[in-house]
Amino acid sequence: MAIYKTGKVVAAMLQDDTSLLNPFEKALLAFLKRLMSYKKSAVERWLYGQRVTLEMSKRGIDKFLVLGAGVPTSGHVHQLLPEAKVLYVDKDPEVVQLGREIIGDNPKVRYIKGDIIKLRDSVLPEASDFLGPNPKAGIIFIGSSYFIPDDALKEVFSSLYDWSAPGSLLSLSAGIRNPNVPLPPSFKILVFIYALTGNKTYPRTAEQLKALAQPWKVEQTEVIIDYGEHSKLYGYLLSK
Ligand SMILES: C[S@@+](CC[C@H](N)C(=O)[O-])C[C@H]1O[C@@H](n2cnc3c(N)ncnc32)[C@H](O)[C@@H]1O
Repeated sequence: MAIYKTGKVVAAMLQDDTSLLNPFEKALLAFLKRLMSYKKSAVERWLYGQRVTLEMSKRGIDKFLVLGAGVPTSGHVHQLLPEAKVLYVDKDPEVVQLGREIIGDNPKVRYIKGDIIKLRDSVLPEASDFLGPNPKAGIIFIGSSYFIPDDALKEVFSSLYDWSAPGSLLSLSAGIRNPNVPLPPSFKILVFIYALTGNKTYPRTAEQLKALAQPWKVEQTEVIIDYGEHSKLYGYLLSK
C-alpha cells in the first residue's frame, strides 16, 4: 500500500487545502511545490479539463465517463454540470472513498473503483449500466493516459470507440516528449516519485499517441503547458 496518493496530493494543491493529507503527503506536497511548477501544471490541466467539459456540454453531451478521475473537487464535472450524469473511475480505493464522500447522495453521479487497463471488462459494463448502452458520451481522460502502457492504451481507445455512439467526444492530456532533448533532473525526480506509487509513466511522441488513438479523429490540439524544449503537456479533443 503506497504511503501517499497522487490523486489526493493533486486535489490538495488545487484547493490549497491539506486537511485530507497524511504527514508524508504534506511533506511531498511541500517538496513538489519547490521542485518545479507542479502546482501550475495541476491548475492548468484542471482548467483545460473544465474548458473541454463545457465544450462537450455545448455540443449536446450530458453523459460523462471520467477516467483516472482523482478526487472530484474544485469544479469537477458534476459540479460544473449539475444536470449531467457522471461516472468517475479511479483505481485507488482511498481516492474512490474520498470521492464518494464528496459526491454524497447524488443519484446522477457515481464513483467506481476500476482499472483503466482492464477497461473493456472491468469498467465499461458498469458504465453501460449507469450511462446506458452505446451512449453519446463525453470521456474525460485527463492526467492519467501517461500511466498506461502502449498496448493497453491502444485497447483503451479501441474499447471506448466500440462502446460509445457517433458524436462522442474524448479528451485527454498527454505529456509529449522531444526524444532528442534529455529530461531535466526535476522531471526525473517526478517520474521517480510517481513510480513509487506504482504509477510508472510512459512518455510518447505526438505521432505515437495519434497512432494509438485511432480510429478516434483528432479535432483539436492545444498546448496546456510548455515545460521547455524537452516536453510539453498537450490537450487533445478527439471525436467519433
Ligand atoms: C495525476 S492524478 C490526476 C487526477 C485528475 N484526473 C487530474 O487531472 O487532476 C492521476 C490519477 O489517475 C489514477 N490512475 C492511474 N492509473 C490508473 C489506472 N490504471 N486506472 C484507474 N486510475 C488510474 C491515479 O490513482 C490518480 O488518482
